[in-house]
Amino acid sequence: MDSNKEDSYDFDKLDHIDRKIDENRVRKKDDDRLKLVETVFDEKTRLILFSMISKGYFDALEGAISTGKEANVYFATSKEESIAIKIFRIDAPSFKKMRGYIEGDYRFKKIRGKRSGFIEMWAKKEFKNLKRMAEHDVPVPQPIYVERNILLMEYLGEGDSVLPLLRDCHVNKPKKLYKNLIETVRTIYRDAKLVHADLSAYNILYNEVKEEFFIIDVSQAVLTDHPKSSEFLLRDLNNINQYFQGFGVDIIPLDKIFTWVTGFEANEILIYETLNK
Ligand SMILES: Nc1ncnc2c1ncn2[C@@H]1O[C@H](COP(=O)(O)OP(=O)(O)O)[C@@H](O)[C@H]1O
Ligand SMILES: [Mg+2]
Repeated sequence: MDSNKEDSYDFDKLDHIDRKIDENRVRKKDDDRLKLVETVFDEKTRLILFSMISKGYFDALEGAISTGKEANVYFATSKEESIAIKIFRIDAPSFKKMRGYIEGDYRFKKIRGKRSGFIEMWAKKEFKNLKRMAEHDVPVPQPIYVERNILLMEYLGEGDSVLPLLRDCHVNKPKKLYKNLIETVRTIYRDAKLVHADLSAYNILYNEVKEEFFIIDVSQAVLTDHPKSSEFLLRDLNNINQYFQGFGVDIIPLDKIFTWVTGFEANEILIYETLNK
């Protein structure tokens, strides 16, 4: 990376970010998401984005791909490549929900009291989980960099057309995809030693042409020794089963699939609860 870039403030680029923020504001005004956009870009976030530009991670923030409850995802470009930028909201309303996933994970023993510290950890957790999965050849966006509440990762899409959610796709060979997905869950469990914990057709991106899928949104993924990992895994597997059942695929019963993934039998009560939620 060019060290001069670090020192020279490029006000054109900062101005570009400001303009993008303004455009978002105008666009979002009608649907009441104005507040959300503004809270994502708090002063510190804006400065970090700018410093990322000056370090050469990307050149321009092109616009929002998704605005969610906990994070917004943006599309950014540089000369060489496009990247996705996930910005966790410092004022995330689901702060409480996040706690349960971090407690019980020895990698995050020192939970800091401050909300911003907590969200920072959430972004780092997603980065680490992506890295772990990528190291074991799980199809995920490659993580690039993380700082405070901002995660940079590989952009999944071509040009400005982002890959759609599996939820919205036409699947030609559902049986084959079902098998591949279950195998991936097993790899995540056995090799990466993780459970996704929010797996569904909403957190899988799909390339209809190449018949390729990518697992995303892994901030809440937990280590397999997390006290609730079996409960989370059952929920993930049940979501996948239900989705493919809708395509008429002969699905594997939840208890069998759990044992195939983990190598041990699931607690019957947990299975019952998962199936009857
Ligand atoms: N690496 C990526 N490349 C392209 N689009 C992405 C990428 N990561 C996330 N997205 C898009 O952003 C949306 C939200 O991201 P996600 O990580 O699922 O966050 P959340 O569901 O918590 O808001 C996804 O549904 C997807 O459309
Ligand atoms: Mg998601």
